[in-house]
Parts: sequence; C-alpha cells; structure tokens
Amino acid sequence: MTDAFEIAFEITVDGRPVPVTPGQTVGAALHAAGIRSWRTTRLGGRPRGLFCGIGVCFDCLVTVNGRPPERACLLQARPGDEVTTS
Ligand code: FES
Repeated sequence: MTDAFEIAFEITVDGRPVPVTPGQTVGAALHAAGIRSWRTTRLGGRPRGLFCGIGVCFDCLVTVNGRPPERACLLQARPGDEVTTS
C-alpha cells in the first residue's frame, strides 16, 4: 500500500536515472520522464512503448533486474530497479 507521504526514489533505465513517485508502475515513470518509446517491433523497427496501459497489448515490455521481459504498465517500480530496454 502506498502512503501519500512516501519519498520519491529513482530507478535506472539503460543506466539513466529516472524519478519515481511511490506507487507508479515502471511504464508510468517512463512516461512521466518523457520517455515515450523504448523498444521496436521485429518487423519494420517501429517504436513501441505504452499503448493500452492495462496489460493487454504487450507493447511495453522491459527487462527489470535481469528477469525475463515484463509489461512495464503492470509492474510497480521499486527503489533501485535497473530497467533495460531493447
Ligand atoms: S501498454 Fe499494453 S501491455 Fe503494457
């Protein structure tokens, strides 16, 4: 549960610090930081990022702390998370 008085923290995205408001998903933190796309399609190399925002489209996949790709729109950011994109 998120307390309104929790202190913001940072995650890193491809080595770059990104601020996070407690309770934000990784996808929301990226969007708030102005990062709108972070991967490309296999065919055509078209940019992808948040699209549905509710876990349906899989356009927002990211790797966090070396785990298999996860949907950024569903994954709550945690202090120190290391996000890598493709
Ligand atoms: S934006 Fe569609 S699954 Fe995350």
